[in-house]
Amino acid sequence: MSETIAFKPETLDQVHQIIARYPEGKHKSALIPILHVAQKEFGGWLAVPVMDYVAEVLNIKPIEVYEVATFYSMFNMKPVGKYVLEVCRTGPCMLNGSEKILDHLRSSLNIKDGETTPDGLFTLKPAECLGACGYAPMMQLGKFYHENLTKEKVDEILELCRQGQVALD
Ligand code: FES
Repeated sequence: MSETIAFKPETLDQVHQIIARYPEGKHKSALIPILHVAQKEFGGWLAVPVMDYVAEVLNIKPIEVYEVATFYSMFNMKPVGKYVLEVCRTGPCMLNGSEKILDHLRSSLNIKDGETTPDGLFTLKPAECLGACGYAPMMQLGKFYHENLTKEKVDEILELCRQGQVALD
């Protein structure tokens, strides 16, 4: 099945540049950055055939890719919406109201944790500490952090997402 999956030529160039950053024989170290590239190129998540393809590109065993991809929460193991709302729920964020933010998102979007809205726009994904504890509560959307969240601020962000005005990278 992996023969039906391939990086675009320009992406493959990028992948080879990433591999070249590592010494000979240590190409497996390129796995995480390449998984990011693969996730972006293949619809925002890592299907098994995509992980198999990455294993092929890196000349490692598929299990070595599965182990890493399933360990880190930034990799999605099932299809996700255009906007993945990664809401931190670790200590400092929890003490500053992350559960209220999550509840607000659950009820506004009518989805549970890990689910995607029927229009394919939003996925709700509780996350562990994202390293912005001083700006709690916070969430990550694409490459960007949205901090000091309130219900009102969340509503504004959702509205801007619906209008396609929220940058992801
Ligand atoms: Fe939320 Fe650290 S606890 S960013």
